[in-house]
Amino acid sequence: MSTQTEFVTEEYARHRDVELEPPLARDRYLLPRNAHGTPISYMAGNSLGLQPTSTKAAIDQELDSWGTLAVRGHSHGAHPWMEFPSLLAKASAAIVGAQPSEIVMMNSLTINIHMLLASFYQPRDRRRKILMEDHAFSSDSYAIRSHVAFRGGHPDKDVIRLKPREGEDCLRTEDVIAVLSERGDEIATILFGAVNYYTGEFMDIPAITAVAHDVGAYAGWDLAHAAGNIPMHMHDWDVDFAAWCSYKYLNAGPGSVAGAFVHEKHHAAALPRLEGWWTNKPETRFLMNSIVDPLETADAWAVSNPPLLIMAPALSALELFTEVGMPVLRARSLQLTGYMRELVAELDTENRVQVITPSDSERHGAQLSIRVPIEPFALIERMYQNHGVLGDARNPDIIRLAPIPMYNTFHDVWRAVTAMFAELNG
Ligand SMILES: Cc1ncc(COP(=O)(O)O)c(C=O)c1O
Repeated sequence: MSTQTEFVTEEYARHRDVELEPPLARDRYLLPRNAHGTPISYMAGNSLGLQPTSTKAAIDQELDSWGTLAVRGHSHGAHPWMEFPSLLAKASAAIVGAQPSEIVMMNSLTINIHMLLASFYQPRDRRRKILMEDHAFSSDSYAIRSHVAFRGGHPDKDVIRLKPREGEDCLRTEDVIAVLSERGDEIATILFGAVNYYTGEFMDIPAITAVAHDVGAYAGWDLAHAAGNIPMHMHDWDVDFAAWCSYKYLNAGPGSVAGAFVHEKHHAAALPRLEGWWTNKPETRFLMNSIVDPLETADAWAVSNPPLLIMAPALSALELFTEVGMPVLRARSLQLTGYMRELVAELDTENRVQVITPSDSERHGAQLSIRVPIEPFALIERMYQNHGVLGDARNPDIIRLAPIPMYNTFHDVWRAVTAMFAELNG
């Protein structure tokens, strides 16, 4: 039905949802609603994913096990607790492109960055620096600077923060590679966001990782905005380590258990590591020895016993990804975000906004970051109050809208973009 501009109509968006491309799993999530019971257009799943309908039952089941089985719940019941870490690792492996033995779900994201830097930041001689993006999420900056200080380095000198070129918002792969080539003998470790939280840029992980290795550095990636958003291949891309949270695209719940990836080539190596009793092989864990008998998988980085009441809903959330599959999700994501970009371009008759997320489909995920000419937090609030559209804002002038392929519709996208222009032009 689409002619040149017909795609800007509400009818087109609805037609596309009903006749052409129905949502993948919208009915498997609880949709936030306005005071009249109408679902809002939720564009903030890159910040906090929606609650799967299975979440409550998953928690209840483990509460029941705890109540009825108590300590025997570790090895008995519908889901013996001892099995959760490997089930979570298996479900996560397909999402980030790893072998299950390379994944451990534990802690929260920033803690996992710390745990991994303890192993993969080994300053020595001239090689003392960490390379990162200047516009990193604050927690990554703080974690990296504190590690440098912890090892006796100087955060202002030993952290190289890479800025985009003058007048640009995103980093160019060639510029990352140029710094690695020029200063490679000073760089111990690189740690970048795979998808930048601010711009939505998806970095060229294999190209940058390969050059980091050529110059003798470890390559780590923060997958917070990439896991469950874009298919990746951590193992094949030879990434050394990665960490991510599970409350954004993965919908495991606020502050839920985070992920860590350690490439198998490092499992048996004598890397320094922070350890605890869960580092120990299960067969000898209860010998209570004074010297650890370490696992030779990523599980060796798990210091403590796993938090079951958050792992249970995380597992049920990840199982939806197993059902749908990353390639199907990605195909729909490109359709939704592509439609959003076209609508913005078509409706921006006065050139009032600028999409700063790269347009190359290889370089972005679900999120579009849009530079707006008014205070972005006020705009987001008005879009919510007046149109039932929920996105988010980042200083000084960006709003972020992320249509999530699992549950958002073309109509949600239409509502978000038309609400933005109604408020900008009204
Ligand atoms: C890129 C990135 N790094 C780190 C964090 C901090 O996560 P946490 O509070 O789970 O440690 C976030 C949170 O949104 C993030 O987006």
